[in-house]
Amino acid sequence: MFAQICKHSRLFNKRFLSIRAYSSRQYVGPNLEKVKVLQKNHVAPCHKPIYQEPLLINSGKMQYLYDANGKCYLDCFGGIVTVSVGHCHPYVVEAVENQLRKLWHTTVIYMNPSLSLYSQKLSRKFPGDLNVVYLVNSGSEANDLALLLARLSTGNYEMISLQNCYHGMSYGTMGLTSSSNWRFPIPSVNSGIHHAKNPDPFNGRHGGRFCRTSPIQTNRNCGCITGECKATDIYFEELKDIFKYSIPKGKCAGMIAESIQGVGGTVQFTKGYIKKASELVRNNGGVFISDEVQTGFGRLGDTFWGFESHEIVPDIVTMAKGIGNGFPLAAVITTPKIAECLTQASHFNTYGGNPLACAAGLAVLEVIEKEGLQQNSKEVGTYFLKSLEQLRSVYEVVGDVRGQGLMIGVEFVESKESRTPLAKEKFQQIWNRTKDYGVLFGCGGFSGNVLRIKPPMCISKENVDHAVDALDKSIKDAGF
Ligand SMILES: Cc1ncc(COP(=O)(O)O)c(C=O)c1O
Repeated sequence: MFAQICKHSRLFNKRFLSIRAYSSRQYVGPNLEKVKVLQKNHVAPCHKPIYQEPLLINSGKMQYLYDANGKCYLDCFGGIVTVSVGHCHPYVVEAVENQLRKLWHTTVIYMNPSLSLYSQKLSRKFPGDLNVVYLVNSGSEANDLALLLARLSTGNYEMISLQNCYHGMSYGTMGLTSSSNWRFPIPSVNSGIHHAKNPDPFNGRHGGRFCRTSPIQTNRNCGCITGECKATDIYFEELKDIFKYSIPKGKCAGMIAESIQGVGGTVQFTKGYIKKASELVRNNGGVFISDEVQTGFGRLGDTFWGFESHEIVPDIVTMAKGIGNGFPLAAVITTPKIAECLTQASHFNTYGGNPLACAAGLAVLEVIEKEGLQQNSKEVGTYFLKSLEQLRSVYEVVGDVRGQGLMIGVEFVESKESRTPLAKEKFQQIWNRTKDYGVLFGCGGFSGNVLRIKPPMCISKENVDHAVDALDKSIKDAGF
């Protein structure tokens, strides 16, 4: 079947090999066995390597990673959706190196041109009066701050997030994150937080399977277009019940949602839900927060921000991961009116707005623009989705192919009819095998049965052919 899909493979191999020769670096350091021992003895036990045989990564170049033995991998996960423009992108490296020689750190107690210039450049990417930027260091920290802003600016306490969402692992954001996989038995993180039913078209109870926001352009589209799908209305009624039964009248602080759920398994929502939800929240005194930690910076192709696909302008937007191409940088943007609430007491962050992080962030934005990476995400992402859709038509275990641009999920099931998650060992067998074929995918979803594909946005169609071919072979090797 893949003869026709792999029409670019010869070209790909040439390019692949030349990049490999160019950037593979000699590994200097302890061998894998030694690193395993060091990790076991000295690293927090929750940090577990994901593959059966862990990877010892030595270097990276654009969409490729190299292990300690010099083996080259196509990176289809980008360090968990974080390497946006490419590993060690030369333009970003140069910008950070230049800053490194000039100034590392001041904090915000002095005027810092990199902080102001970067904030201006970033805010120009936003509509309306979203123009006040607060720079922080991680997605969790950004969402913590957004939670504080929502509560302080409205004077209300009650927050809503969606089931199956992931908003971070700090003490505050743990309560927003809604999955037993990420829950610790400790009191109070959930205080004032309500988890609404997830408008999930594949695994949700009310269907809407073909009524996703931005469905892939295949003949599977239908539903909302004909106005027959009622899934959004039913999920929305369930959200209204939270307001009816659990929140003091008119006293909502806000709602937070990813534009597409990432860790939860690339879950797109039923069409129109987010828009209706944001209006309901505002009518009840709250603000709407879009978590663009995974979906921002052009990854979705059609739009620079995921919230644009939902046809809303949020009150607060949080960003991390791709913002710095792997440099620890994150941000919150909001309106001047909401930002004002933080002046009633001191609020400070030692590393937020660090000159090195700002240099990285500025260079990333410039690369996205100069290299047309949003457009590449659209073209190559759509090609990826369509190629995977062909796999879905061949294999019973490929239950769903979804996503937008270069934010893609492939859900593995026992059968298309049952949609029961594929047994863990079977899924792991397929996924571990793709590594042997030189392709690194992520995995996630509540049951861990979703391949997560979120590569650096510089990936090519030839790379896609290689990745889909590797997945095809791996599914066959597992006996399907
Ligand atoms: C959507 C989303 N929000 C927030 C976070 C938390 O970001 P961090 O790990 O940088 O704290 C993540 C991390 O995966 C995420 O995917």
